[in-house]
Amino acid sequence: MKRSKASPLTFVIVIIIYISIEKCKASASTFQHEGLTCSRCPPGQHMVQHCTKDHDTQCAPCSASHYTQYWNYLKKCQYCNIFCKENQNVKHECNATHNRVCECKDGYFWEYEFCTKQKTCLPGYGVKTAGTPYSSTICRKCARGFFSSVTSTIAQCKRHTNCTELGLKLDIPGTAWHDNLCSPCQPSGSEEDTTECEKALFNFVARQKLGQRKVFSLGKALLNETKRNLLQTWNDKEEQQQIMLLFHKWKIQQSADVTVEALVKILTAAKLNKVVKKMSRKFLRQKVNAMQEKCAF
Ligand SMILES: *[C@@H]1O[C@H](CO)[C@@H](O)[C@H](O)[C@H]1NC(C)=O
Ligand SMILES: *[C@@H]1O[C@H](CO)[C@@H](O)[C@H](O)[C@H]1NC(C)=O
Repeated sequence: MKRSKASPLTFVIVIIIYISIEKCKASASTFQHEGLTCSRCPPGQHMVQHCTKDHDTQCAPCSASHYTQYWNYLKKCQYCNIFCKENQNVKHECNATHNRVCECKDGYFWEYEFCTKQKTCLPGYGVKTAGTPYSSTICRKCARGFFSSVTSTIAQCKRHTNCTELGLKLDIPGTAWHDNLCSPCQPSGSEEDTTECEKALFNFVARQKLGQRKVFSLGKALLNETKRNLLQTWNDKEEQQQIMLLFHKWKIQQSADVTVEALVKILTAAKLNKVVKKMSRKFLRQKVNAMQEKCAF
């Protein structure tokens, strides 16, 4: 069929639609009452008195807890009748123009008028798509080389720690639910490795700027040295040197290689809690994680 230009009929239809829209707009703020065209009351107000020949519609503001959302000639404002239920927070409080609006609190999403708990991803699974106030979390199994050790609505699968990159040795390979366990000290390592590791540990403690009082408690915990003995050998030595000397004496008394665990025990006994924390973070990080993972099951 040949396409024709817009016919006169089309023009007429367009004009009729245009007029209807304009009329509709006009009537948004007016209405007919007993043959008169009267103003409606604006949102936030309601009608107190109909218009007459002499005066227009009389409006008044809504009282507390009441609202009108549209241009109206309601005798009363509407009551704010939405109350937030369990697991919901008020998103917008009731005001003169709007009913109260509720939303699901964090960790919940809107489902059939109720707030349902977001799905949590178990260890071995990470969040693929985070939940929104209107949809649940989507989980996926961690791919090879990735893990998630927590039950969470936000945690994604993380890449296994690359032990070699950190200059550490891989102790236990990671799985979908736990990280690679790296360690600086290899019980089965060569003599030299062990010494290097011990040196690193002792140096780490010596560099902590403990202060004399704490060095004394360390001496007590390591060698059962009294303060008086320690003061005698103090000799204006640098604190770092003093600590290395204590470790040296202690090391001679040990039959086996010094482990991080053994040192942590001593430091705990000496109440050097800050150093223990730092040392655990640096040398036992992955092992601590592994312990937490075991507890999660
Ligand atoms: C009333 O609340 C609505 C949201 O529910 C908001 O958009 C509007 O600005 C509020 N009006 C006043 C006057 O605060
Ligand atoms: C770990 O890091 C090293 C050195 O950057 C790299 O050669 C190796 O491929 C990495 N291993 C993994 C499993 O990504």
